[in-house]
Amino acid sequence: MPPESSESSESNEPGLPAYAATMAAYHRAFEPELVEIVESLPIRRGQTVLDFACGDGAYAGWLARRVGASGRVIAMDLSPAYLGAARRNLAARPELAARVRLVRADAGRSPLRDGSVDLTWCAQSLYSLPDPVEAIRRMAAATRPGGLVAVFENDEMHHVLFPWPAEAELAFRRAELAGFSAESDRPWKFYVGRRLLRVFREAGLADVALRCFAFTRQAPLDAAAREFFAGFLENLRDRAGLFLEPDLRTLLEGMTTPGSGRFLLDDPDLCVTCVNHVAVGVRP
Ligand SMILES: C[S@@+](CC[C@H](N)C(=O)[O-])C[C@H]1O[C@@H](n2cnc3c(N)ncnc32)[C@H](O)[C@@H]1O
Repeated sequence: MPPESSESSESNEPGLPAYAATMAAYHRAFEPELVEIVESLPIRRGQTVLDFACGDGAYAGWLARRVGASGRVIAMDLSPAYLGAARRNLAARPELAARVRLVRADAGRSPLRDGSVDLTWCAQSLYSLPDPVEAIRRMAAATRPGGLVAVFENDEMHHVLFPWPAEAELAFRRAELAGFSAESDRPWKFYVGRRLLRVFREAGLADVALRCFAFTRQAPLDAAAREFFAGFLENLRDRAGLFLEPDLRTLLEGMTTPGSGRFLLDDPDLCVTCVNHVAVGVRP
């Protein structure tokens, strides 16, 4: 997932974070796999599901299919711009939109009654929230005893596995960490995916189970996958480039820049895999 930023970029609507376009491309590129993950959640018709930090509403729509006409999805986010995007995206499917209630709220001050939902879902938002353990505690508080908290996350070090030259990959990763450390006082948040079990345990959840989901794409990429991976590579170049020796910086720039002649996405033999985890725990 792209790192948090409060700024809009040219390709985004006003008010949306700079990563929003890449995030939306991710939803389009991997929709079959993401829907499969949502389908794997133990949700029954008529239940109430909370989508915690819902962003553009992609998951809220998929969750709305699962709860059926008698169920309800509460899609909560702090950002009015993102809630507006969710409203517009859901409007294309009025039968699903009717099951979704959009709520503006800070994750730390949820207006929901304790124990009022059957399952809380949260996708790729732990980087954005101030404290992952506290965030999971909030999710658990909203969930009824015996209900589930399910979190979809990744670890930036292993999230997108490109076929880098083996002799350069460690240097690229080290430089990326240096970039995160330069821009955030909590660089470890970008690697929270490797600590999900501990975070769930510290938040007090029981019977926590972790599953890995890997999404692979090969050349030729479709437009959405190309847009997502191009955004990912641009972010990596901008973040890591400054922290590399000149030869490695030149190599990274060539491989991440469209039109360079070495751009990875133009490799006819490209194969790239995204690694994700879903942690599910029970509210005691
Ligand atoms: C990386 S996005 C992920 C959005 C969505 N879950 C998805 O997967 O597309 C992180 C989300 O967290 C929201 N967010 C950030 N800080 C928040 C807070 N304090 N309370 C509630 N939502 C917050 C952002 O507005 C954004 O929608």
